[in-house]
Amino acid sequence: MYRTHTCGELRLENNDNTVTLAGWIQRIRNLGGMTFIDLRDRYGITQLVVNEHVSDELKTIVKKLGREFVVQVQGLVVKRQSPNNKILTGEIEIVVEKIKIINASELPPFTIEDESDGGDELRMKYRYLDLRRNPLLKALELRHRLAHETRRYLNSQSFLEIETPYLIKSTPEGARDFIVPSRMNQGQFYALPQSPQTFKQLLMVAGYDRYFQIVRCFRDEDLRADRQPEFTQIDCEMAFVEREDVLQTFEGLAKHLFKNVLDIDFTGQFPRMSYTDAMKYYGCDKPDIRFDMRICELTENVKGKNFVMFDSAEYIGGICAEGCAEYTRKQLDELNEWVKRPQIGAKGLAYIKLGTDGIKSSIDKFYTPDELQAIADKMGARQGDLILVLAGNKKITLGGLCELRLEMGKRLGYRNNTKFAPLWVVDFPLFEYDDETKRFYAMHHPFTSPHVDDLAIFESNPAEVRANAYDFVLNGVEIGGGSIRIHDAQVQKTMFKILGFTDEDAQIQFGFLMNAFKFGAPPHGGIAFGLDRWCAVFGGSDSIRDYIAFPKNNSGRDMMIDSPAAIKQEQLDELGIRLIDNPKA
Ligand code: AMO
Repeated sequence: MYRTHTCGELRLENNDNTVTLAGWIQRIRNLGGMTFIDLRDRYGITQLVVNEHVSDELKTIVKKLGREFVVQVQGLVVKRQSPNNKILTGEIEIVVEKIKIINASELPPFTIEDESDGGDELRMKYRYLDLRRNPLLKALELRHRLAHETRRYLNSQSFLEIETPYLIKSTPEGARDFIVPSRMNQGQFYALPQSPQTFKQLLMVAGYDRYFQIVRCFRDEDLRADRQPEFTQIDCEMAFVEREDVLQTFEGLAKHLFKNVLDIDFTGQFPRMSYTDAMKYYGCDKPDIRFDMRICELTENVKGKNFVMFDSAEYIGGICAEGCAEYTRKQLDELNEWVKRPQIGAKGLAYIKLGTDGIKSSIDKFYTPDELQAIADKMGARQGDLILVLAGNKKITLGGLCELRLEMGKRLGYRNNTKFAPLWVVDFPLFEYDDETKRFYAMHHPFTSPHVDDLAIFESNPAEVRANAYDFVLNGVEIGGGSIRIHDAQVQKTMFKILGFTDEDAQIQFGFLMNAFKFGAPPHGGIAFGLDRWCAVFGGSDSIRDYIAFPKNNSGRDMMIDSPAAIKQEQLDELGIRLIDNPKA
């Protein structure tokens, strides 16, 4: 037996027991003739003491020990003279009788502590060492609990967990596919699924009316803190449901996870907001409603005073930062530079300070104090507040106001990671029009049903049609999205037509689904949640990477196994692939 206990287990009641532990050496300290060793495993840290009177043999072994050595230790549990209340085993220590070095370790390239001295890339290269650190262990434990509780809840609601294939067919909609060449069918390629969307719909046709899967999805898109090329969805679908059934069921899942993972009770319904209101008041489709600070449109209120920046703007809007009237010139200049960064793209920032000594503004050349007060009144601003205004192209300005609101919210401490504000955003547009390619794209995906109230204008005025789609947003992060689906072959055909597919294209790409709809498709709908994102928000982090055991870096590389990588010519030949230019081969 390697161990009688783990390193997180021993307490005062084990006093006087002889125990055997196994684990990694976290730290060694020599104090006088005594040596203190912190022994670590997944469960915690236990302090070992080697007294000065031990045998020479034991002393020789102790001298050889180094950080991250794997050892097995036998000793006596004793009460500590000075307990350490920061660790669970802090009331005891082990007086070492025997140590066996199971495996030595090279000096790790960074410290295995909560705050490591290793840079990102180095820690990615030695991910297995980084994973030994407590913050990552906690993150993966959180992920496990979230996945486990998801299964527990969905199982209790009669959902069946069913796997769908990973080698599927490339489709032109959505993000770019990852492609896998077929050896047995040369010149042909599989694609890795961006989601199991069509398969889960086929399962509904097959009669499995409540499906779920915790499933890997693959998207070849540009990466950000909340995006990985392979990520995990909690993918769900239900038959014989309307939107309300889906929202209720998954609000139930969210509440179950809040309760069982974070021990937070949510009573009452989650708030709901239309896409139109989200864009109008928050400038984006995933509002962080932990704080108010709504955007107020001022376009009609401020034009016509010879201020060119406003007069030439398509849209003017502002936010009111409570209690910020005392912002200094330096702080305002810095905010002005902040909004001009390419990511925000504003031309500049106008401000109105409602200070104790009256109204001061960057635009008081053009507006009288009364006019400025009228703007403040429209925005509901009070003495002590600071109004920040952006103007320009509507889409860019609303986007800029959204970012500025989030930034001010952060600076004012409104975005507390231990506070949670869930929200359903509903009634998205069905289509987005792209000026470059001059065609409509599905805003969610081509299987989303139009809103019942908009069916009459589905073909005649697609731009105005709302989708029967919904997103689940938590603290300003899109955690999940779904919709009620089209289950009628004719409506699906019209959808493809609006998206610019010829009948032939539609048949080639999605014939299997349209054919299935001819054999009795029930009404159905569903949703998919990003498990990685859900973990990150629950864990209070902006980045999903820490919640994935082996993530990719921002260039889509796995630094540890060094992939993607070139493959041998024989392999390429076998696949029938000839590279035009393969400098790495
Ligand atoms: P959607 O494309 O909105 O919907 O994806 C659902 C959720 O998956 C997460 N997500 C990601 N997480 C990490 N990295 C990525 N690259 C990434 N892309 C998406 C998000 C998102 O909300 N089939 C539909 C769902 C449905 O209609 O039922 C779908 O995939 O949290």
